[in-house]
Amino acid sequence: MSMDPCPEVRRPDGTLRAFVEARQLVPDIILPILSRAEDLAHGAPPVPVSLASSATLFFQQPSTRTYLSFAHAAGSLGYHTADLRDMRTTSFEKGESLEDGLRTIAELSELVILRQPNHEALLDFIRTSAALPRPPIVVNAGSGPSEHPTQSLIDVATLHRRGILDPSGGPKKIVFVGDLQRSRTVNSLLDVLLGWRHLTFVFVPIAGLGPSTCRIQALQAMGRTFEVCDDLDEALTNADAVYLQRLQDEYGGGDTQKHEQELESLRLTPARMDLLPPHAVVLHPLPRRREIDPATDHDPRAGWWETVRYGRFVRTALLEALQPESPS
Ligand code: NCD
Repeated sequence: MSMDPCPEVRRPDGTLRAFVEARQLVPDIILPILSRAEDLAHGAPPVPVSLASSATLFFQQPSTRTYLSFAHAAGSLGYHTADLRDMRTTSFEKGESLEDGLRTIAELSELVILRQPNHEALLDFIRTSAALPRPPIVVNAGSGPSEHPTQSLIDVATLHRRGILDPSGGPKKIVFVGDLQRSRTVNSLLDVLLGWRHLTFVFVPIAGLGPSTCRIQALQAMGRTFEVCDDLDEALTNADAVYLQRLQDEYGGGDTQKHEQELESLRLTPARMDLLPPHAVVLHPLPRRREIDPATDHDPRAGWWETVRYGRFVRTALLEALQPESPS
């Protein structure tokens, strides 16, 4: 079964051109990328792109880690990188449409890395750019609250390195905590983790911000075991992995102050960390606010800085797998 969001994510020869949704990450695609990332992390040289390949990082929404790790990953492969991050410096200020702006970027780049608020606009760009004389590679670096598939690839890399994705060890329980409704990293990670049958899911959301209906339906349709729970301490006592997420209040809706207070009661403190089994791992895509006490940073179960560090190699391995077509 094809997991492509639209036919245009592939070139006419069937090779992958655009990576935009987490459902594209079936285990057969992920595992070679993770194995290559491990080699790169141990010093293997990246396979360079041909001379004068250009990458444009177009970020309409704020970013620290994703932007930097993509910029360094593309640079390590020999891409000449340029970025558009401050929209006030672009021709959008002069009334240019998003379509024309994206067309310009596509005409001038072999690789386009996009963070912007509208997933449908991203899919439109994939479709229209396929008809250009030289369609660029396109990678989704976050599309509004919808998708963040490369963060999921990195989260999965840490889960894999910590043994959570190995089915031979029996069933494993993953606890999701915080704003689970408007989080693109949670949405995308759930889509990827559906591929591992030995995983069970426990959701401890801020009240009213549980997983989206379509993710719950997907879990049901795939026959996965899950529960929604309001006792975080109980959920932690036999968890194998925990995924925390901050309040996504930039998307509006609800009472931010009330939600923040509730998230405060779910804060990961050193005492809470000690409820977890010794082999467990805790992830957070960052940036964090108060969901995690920085006093837990040095606990061996803390996986968030490892995820940041390793993310550059995962993104390098992904970009290597998406090498541009050689000029004919
Ligand atoms: C996340 C994002 O931007 O979606 N951060 C990231 O890319 N590592 C998470 C967030 O902003 O909460």
